[in-house]
Amino acid sequence: MKPLIATITGSLITVLLLSFIVTGQKAGPGKTGQELFEKHCKQCHGKDGTRGLFGAKNLQTSQLADEALYTTIARGRKIMPAWEKRMDSAELGLVVAYVKTLRK
Ligand code: HEC
Repeated sequence: MKPLIATITGSLITVLLLSFIVTGQKAGPGKTGQELFEKHCKQCHGKDGTRGLFGAKNLQTSQLADEALYTTIARGRKIMPAWEKRMDSAELGLVVAYVKTLRK
């Protein structure tokens, strides 16, 4: 029988490797804020942020501060879905940064 310590170390390494692989995948194939926006947000907000489908807010004139912007996108509001289940915090950060570039 293997010494207990070897078994523990072995499973620890397995767990570490697995979590590395999982978090590595979660970061996605390195999408930019613009790509994420055009994939998830364009249909309601439009490529330039002015479309307003279902009453979507005009993102060019939106005045939300960074934190409110992040929570609105993460949690959703009214018809707008919550995105925190489909994007990780890094991706949400990229989208927040991109949304601000749409402002005029
Ligand atoms: C199904 C349509 C829809 C999609 C898809 C959608 N939104 Fe929205 N969004 C809305 C609606 C509707 C509102 C206005 C909610 C309200 O009435 O307060 C809104 C509001 C917002 C606001 C608040 C603006 C302000 O000044 O109050 C932000 C920021 C925003 N959306 C960003 C995004 C981003 C980023 C995405 C993509 C990750 C996205 N939205 C996807 C419909 C959508």
